[in-house]
Parts: sequence; C-alpha cells; structure tokens
Amino acid sequence: MAKKIDDVYTGSVASKYDEVRNRLPRWTREAGVIEPVLRRIPPGSSVLDVAAGTARWLPVYKELGLKVTLTDASADMLALAAEKAKSLGVSARVEQISAIDDAPFPQAETVVTTNFLNWISLADVETCLRKMRQTGAGTYLLMIAYIPQNWSATRRLRARLRISWKNLRTRLGIREKGIYHLHEEQDVRAMFRRVGLTVIEEAVIEENHKKRVTFVTAKPTGELPVVTIDEVIVAKDSVVIDGKSYAIKAGTWALYVPELEMKILRAADGNCAYEHPLAPDPATVRAAPADQKFRRYTAAEWASSIDKPVLERAAENCIIADRLARHGFGAALKAAVVVRSYRQGDSGKPTHSAGMILENLFTYPRRRDVTETEFRKVGLIPDRYKSCIRQQIRGYVSDFNAVFGVMPQGAETEVAALRGRMADHCAAG
Ligand SMILES: C[S@@+](CC[C@H](N)C(=O)[O-])C[C@H]1O[C@@H](n2cnc3c(N)ncnc32)[C@H](O)[C@@H]1O
Repeated sequence: MAKKIDDVYTGSVASKYDEVRNRLPRWTREAGVIEPVLRRIPPGSSVLDVAAGTARWLPVYKELGLKVTLTDASADMLALAAEKAKSLGVSARVEQISAIDDAPFPQAETVVTTNFLNWISLADVETCLRKMRQTGAGTYLLMIAYIPQNWSATRRLRARLRISWKNLRTRLGIREKGIYHLHEEQDVRAMFRRVGLTVIEEAVIEENHKKRVTFVTAKPTGELPVVTIDEVIVAKDSVVIDGKSYAIKAGTWALYVPELEMKILRAADGNCAYEHPLAPDPATVRAAPADQKFRRYTAAEWASSIDKPVLERAAENCIIADRLARHGFGAALKAAVVVRSYRQGDSGKPTHSAGMILENLFTYPRRRDVTETEFRKVGLIPDRYKSCIRQQIRGYVSDFNAVFGVMPQGAETEVAALRGRMADHCAAG
C-alpha cells in the first residue's frame, strides 16, 4: 500500500532526508537554478516556506536576513528544520500546518515551495495556492513539474507510462514514496489564472523524458494595465504609431499590429467604425429606412453597430479576452490600450480609439476548437453568425467583433469600470 504523502516524511525518511538527497546530482542542479532566484527576495523581508521539510533553503534565507516561517505537515521534518535553524543561528518560526486543509498560513511577503506540488493532486495544488494567496504575499516562488504542451502524443504517453510504472511500484510498497502527480502544462497554467497568479518568470531546472521541472516566479494578477498611445495614423497595410511605422493585419472592425501584439479598434467620431469593401457606407445606412437590408443586416443594425462608443467596445473586448484566457480558450490579455488621436490616413478626422494587447496565438500549442457550449459556459454570447466559434486560431477564439459581436454576459459593471479607467488615461496628460 502506498503511504499518503503527509505520512511519508517521518522517522528514518525524515532523519536521512538531507544525507540521501545531498548525494543526488539532481539536488545540486536544483539548487543551481533555485538559489539565484531566492537571492532576489528583498533582504530583511518575510518569507513563508510551505512544505519546507528540513528547511533546505535556510542558509540563503539567513544570508538575506529574512524573517522566516517554516511550515510542513510532518512534525519529524519540522523538528529537523528547527534544529537546523538553531545550528545556523536563525530565529525561524516553525509551524505544523497542512498545505491542503483550511488552516491558514501565517502572513508573508514571499512564499516559497519546492519539491512539493507534484506530490499532491492538481486540485490540492489549487487549494494550496489559494491558501498561499491569503497570506497577502506579493511574490510566489514555486517549483512545479509538468508535461509540456508541445510534446507529441507519443512522447506524452511514454512519460505517463514511466510515471505510472513508478507509482505502481509505490502502490505495491516497493518504493517508500508518495504517489507522483505529473500535471499537464495547460492545466497548471489555467490553475494559476484561476487563483489570480500571473507567471512572470519561469526558470527550467531540467527537462527529461518524463517532465519539465520549473521554478516559477508568480505575482498576483493585478488590475489590467492601460497603455496610452498619443497618435495612430492608419493606412491600408500599415500604421504609424507615435511616429513609427508597423505592418498590420487589417480587419473589418480592428487592425492587428503583430510586432506589438496589439489590436486597435477602428473608430470614427469616438464610436466604432468598420472598413470592408462589401460593407455599406455609414452615411447611407444612417439615412436609409431602418428595415432596408444591406447584405445580412438592416440599416438600423448597421447603424447601431457604429453608434457604440469605441471605449465601451474596447472594454467589452478586454473582458471577453480575459474570460477566454482564464479558461485556456484565448490568448492571455496583457493590457488595454487607449489611443488619444486616431486618424484614417494623414487627412482623416482625428478621434480617439482603443484596443488591447494580447499574447500571440501563433506561439500557442494547437488545441481542439472551443465549442459553443464551452464558450457560453464562461459567460460569453457568440456573435450572431457564430464566426467566433467557426473561425478560431489554433483552437482559440480570437475574433470578437461583428455587427452583432461577441458579448460578455452580466459584465456591465466591469465594463463600465474599465471604460472609465480607459477614459481617464485618454484624457490625462
Ligand atoms: C520532498 S519534501 C520537500 C521538502 C523541501 N521543500 C525540499 O525541497 O527539500 C516534501 C515535503 O512535503 C511535506 N508534506 C507532505 N504533505 C504535506 C501537506 N499536506 N502539507 C504540508 N506539507 C506536506 C512533507 O512532510 C515533506 O517535508
């Protein structure tokens, strides 16, 4: 019978922990990557080490003069940690706290955990990270291993079989270990997003035939930044942004600047605008009888699409992008964008516009397309002709705008708040 992970590190496993591991080349490799990252913790600040075991990183914490709290589920491991602290002359707070129940962790500015998040299920990792978030820490340094998204099906299967074999031997009692949980990269990333953590740096400790082992630096996902651009002048295949020319992919409702990963909505007189050889002229639809049809839409429908303030549509776009990204259905949203002066050509009438910066989907691993049910489940309503579902990029939804574009459900307050912030940035300066 395999032991539960919180029962493994007792007795002789605990007492021999350092001695056994210090002989492993893996141990030295890990330290070579982890220690330089730990050394960036602000000196004198507080650190919480979760599942700290025998307090392996204590010498580095000491070097930095940190206020140290060590927690672990095993009393035996903590006794060794306390001994180590004493011998190093560090006054560490040592507490027996499980990482996956309701008991809160003490507050800290930085949270560290190593060699732990693969000994528990992904659901338990999520519980643990949520508990860590309650500490109010601004930085999370987390060692976690996963099967990379871009591995081939054969390679992933081999990795899974290798781990299953190890776990079988553990279950049979041949190995005195816990069950190893090999997570999938996309599940790990989605979980970070769910708990409100943004990965800002990821150091690879090693990548072998079973997994990629990384040491992640994550920060709480904050308010969406708003990037302000003074001037945009749009031409057919290019755009000049604050004096510099960039190639664009021109769409009907927006233009995409690949070099900046930026989407900017077309705008006229502070409202949304469209540009397509087959679309009716805005002046014509405004003057025409409301029910006159222009292709698939009536004049009134065309007119309502360009009566929407561009800042409002940009805010809606950001909320849509954020909901998609949180569920792994779209590119990660990096920032909202406001443009103080937007012109169609040098002689165009200046107005303001807005948009967003998103990660490039062409760097994402291919996934199966998002289904309409999945799309609706995350609080989004597809555009009238469901182009957002039919035309995905590598299995991610990327195009939100149409005469009746994608809408976020129940997001009025969120949209108004973001629109307000964007308007402030547009007006400031
Ligand atoms: C492989 S050791 C890692 C120790 C240390 N972080 C390191 O890198 O050397 C795993 C640790 O997780 C602890 N642990 C297991 N289950 C736990 C739980 N539910 N909550 C907190 N600690 C737990 C064990 O007692 C053990 O000390």
